[in-house]
Amino acid sequence: MRINRKRLEESMEALGRVGATAKGGLNRVALTDDDRRGRDLLVEWMREAGLSVTVDQMGNIFGRRAGSDGAAPVMMGSHADSVPTGGRYDGQLGVLCALEAIRTLNDRKAATRHPVAMAIFTNEEGARFQPAMIGSGVMSGKIPLEDAYNARDRDGVRLGDELERIGYLGSEPCIPRPLRAYLELHIEQGPILEEQHLSVGVVEGIVAISWSRLTLTGVQDHAGPTPMRIRHDALVAAAEIVRGVREIPRKIGGDMVSTVGRLDVTPNIPNAIPGRVSLSVDLRAPEEHHVTRALGFLDRLVKEAARVEGVTYELDHYWRVPRTHFDVEVVDTIEEAAKGLGYGYRRILSGAGHDAQYMATICPTGMIFVPSRDGRSHCEEEFTPMDDIEKGANTLLLAASKLAGAA
Ligand code: GLV
Ligand code: MN
Ligand code: MN
Repeated sequence: MRINRKRLEESMEALGRVGATAKGGLNRVALTDDDRRGRDLLVEWMREAGLSVTVDQMGNIFGRRAGSDGAAPVMMGSHADSVPTGGRYDGQLGVLCALEAIRTLNDRKAATRHPVAMAIFTNEEGARFQPAMIGSGVMSGKIPLEDAYNARDRDGVRLGDELERIGYLGSEPCIPRPLRAYLELHIEQGPILEEQHLSVGVVEGIVAISWSRLTLTGVQDHAGPTPMRIRHDALVAAAEIVRGVREIPRKIGGDMVSTVGRLDVTPNIPNAIPGRVSLSVDLRAPEEHHVTRALGFLDRLVKEAARVEGVTYELDHYWRVPRTHFDVEVVDTIEEAAKGLGYGYRRILSGAGHDAQYMATICPTGMIFVPSRDGRSHCEEEFTPMDDIEKGANTLLLAASKLAGAA
């Protein structure tokens, strides 16, 4: 049993046009009109594939193909939102490969003991509403539903209101449900598979992740008459902190990474001393205790930078996802599938967060990676060759069929 490459490619093209950028990327940020259009198209395809479609209170979309006994489903899925000026593969590919696997089961009229289902999770990226992976976070019971509804974007718009506006505030309770397994195909977003000329990554787990937000408050004043000696410049303190955050992985060692990706400066004009700066800090490491130590470094770094510049601050370590180890049986099943199909593969650790990280807390979970050209992602240049996608999708189909008890 093999997936239909042409059909998958056509679906990728069609979905990729929703929110397409001029440079071949994607702007389909969570709960925007383009997100709604992408969801509508996917739901139409899911219904055409004969799935019973439901939407939960977080706007997560599920489609279910019946099994021969009422056992817990094998679910495949990912997300359909993108980062701003992102690529056409992150998330979308996993959703479309899940759909293609189901379409292939339909072509073959293949019966499975467990139902086979697919999921599209809301706001995985965390670009518009923080934190990331919020749809699966609520579903797994790790994020309270009300907190998720009350998440606000830069303009103060509530997530709950946007869900309602785009017509995806569903009625199905967003709670853990019995699942035989959860499988997610995703692009690697790093360079390893491409460097080693391999098509499939058998993902063993995901690094620990921490997100913090920092607001520095100085004194907004005129850029001309204010002597240097009496300034309290929030951006100068922020600059020290950005530099210091970059140094944290070197001090900690291992494979830790650190990023300040967001900086909001007030009033952000040429002739005023910045009175307020907000910024984000993203810390990740394969070792849980490295993240804990890094947060200690961050606390001291911020305190010292604020003291030197004479500014005040609020630092909130508001989101943490522990190091995740995927289920041994699921990982082995994926590996056997890739091996049995004769594909080049290796075991790999994910440096990116995925809905699979939350799903792993409620059911046996595993992931399949396919290569990213030049290791690039969260950018318009994101690309994966179709040959590799086909291999990843076949691995997904085979592993899901096996776990679902295909006849
Ligand atoms: C999700 O894209 C992440 O931040 O890892
Ligand atoms: Mn993703
Ligand atoms: Mn992403």
